[in-house]
Amino acid sequence: KILILDFGSQYTQLIARAVREANVYCEIIPYHKKFTVDSTLKGIILSGSPFSVNEENAPLVDVASFIQQLPVLGVCYGAQLTAKVFGGRVDKSNKREYGRAKLLKKQEDVLLQNVSDHSQVWMSHSDSITQLPEGFELLATTDSIPVAAFKKNGTEAKPLYGLQFHPEVYHSTEGKKIIHNFLTNICGCKQDWTPASFVHETVEQLKQQIGDAHVIMALSGGVDSTVAATLISKAIGDRLHGIFVDNGVLRKDEFESVLATYKKLGLNITGIDAKQMFYKELAGKTDPEAKRKVIGKLFIDVFQDEAKKVEGVKFLGQGTIYPDVIESVSVHGPSVTIKSHHNVGGLPDTMHLSLVEPLRFLFKDEVRKVGLELGIPEDLIFRHPFPGPGLAIRILGEITEEKVKLLQEADAIYTKSLKEHELYTKVWQAGAILLPVKSVGVMGDERTYEYTVALRAVTSVDGMTADWAHLPYEYLAHVSNEIINNVRGINRVVYDISSKPPATIEWE
Ligand code: XMP
Repeated sequence: KILILDFGSQYTQLIARAVREANVYCEIIPYHKKFTVDSTLKGIILSGSPFSVNEENAPLVDVASFIQQLPVLGVCYGAQLTAKVFGGRVDKSNKREYGRAKLLKKQEDVLLQNVSDHSQVWMSHSDSITQLPEGFELLATTDSIPVAAFKKNGTEAKPLYGLQFHPEVYHSTEGKKIIHNFLTNICGCKQDWTPASFVHETVEQLKQQIGDAHVIMALSGGVDSTVAATLISKAIGDRLHGIFVDNGVLRKDEFESVLATYKKLGLNITGIDAKQMFYKELAGKTDPEAKRKVIGKLFIDVFQDEAKKVEGVKFLGQGTIYPDVIESVSVHGPSVTIKSHHNVGGLPDTMHLSLVEPLRFLFKDEVRKVGLELGIPEDLIFRHPFPGPGLAIRILGEITEEKVKLLQEADAIYTKSLKEHELYTKVWQAGAILLPVKSVGVMGDERTYEYTVALRAVTSVDGMTADWAHLPYEYLAHVSNEIINNVRGINRVVYDISSKPPATIEWE
């Protein structure tokens, strides 16, 4: 295992993903958190940071004591901090350095093994190391900074390296190789952390954790809950009791098709048709947050009623993934809630259940790999994200069963055509939105007065920021025709060309 000490850089998670891509397990912890060194821990990486090491309240760690036990690699701020604490100099650069630079190697070293001279690296910093501490050696420069890579000499401690650039980002073309070199040549990591080994180890751990108790779990038809449930089911079989609720705002035919998939996977899942209860509670509600609250609350009620029927339940299964649990180092104070996202995390304590979260340490792409390893069908694994409140936040204003049916039809045509035109996997998320607007149209000799549907498709990495997808005009013309010709009640289709920020992905 590798530990990544986070100093608040926006790229810290990318370091973790690069390490894991090399089939080495790693965890991110805040830089000030205590950790124990055991035989599984092979090295430490210090992340970048928005701070300057010369600031009075700059976050510091005791690198000198780390290298008594483990190899250390400092990245950007991590490298500057290393240089500074050993007596080197870090100064404000004349100009801030962002973007591409060419790495000029000064000597061969195991860290830069097989990395070509003039390799492109990505810079993002406003301080530079201007003088290395005594006993440190320069490994590389660039044309604009004197110190791009360095190491500490001597054999009295474990190896210590620093990189001024960001090897973890895509634009450092050989950055992954450098990280790989650190992991294998310097830390001696075995690259044996694979989806298959994860499945094997996790199933064993789940058996230990759960014993002969029962687990209840809410499933959503999404990747995370399905993969989590399949792992738990592999460990304890039918003592996993999954609950899948039709809240009336799922996609067309989704309830039936997802239940069929669960059945094929051998999962013990009960489907509950609660559509009418949801429609009743949603009636008259137009405010997006009010709609979210109704759905969240009713969902918990339905789930709890069902859970009560199962005896011997001690655990609640959840598909929580790593980005949701990484403790972030906050530099700008707590962030504001833009929208309240609902999940089963809101279950009252009175249920006295402990959590089972087999995906707690996985990134989304790793969840997908594990899912494929478990034999879960690809169309489920590569599904777009779908919000918990479902179509309720894609029908602007009040929700009625008729409007849901209308949107389900339009959405199904949209999704199907994206797949047929091989665009589905090129966008991160797509969906249709029913606008509370009617407009005039003409069909044959008839005047129509019907609803408008907005199509949304975005590219994104994590949903935090997103760009509208530049779908081909020909495709948009095609899907617009398909929807208007096939869905009675919709006579106009528009395409959303707003990015996030300042817009959001969903309209409510
Ligand atoms: P926004 O609209 O905030 O969406 O840009 C970002 C991502 O979050 C999803 N989303 C939700 N997911 N419950 C969820 O489970 C919610 O209330 C909710 N609201 C938005 C959205 O679909 C997108 O993937």
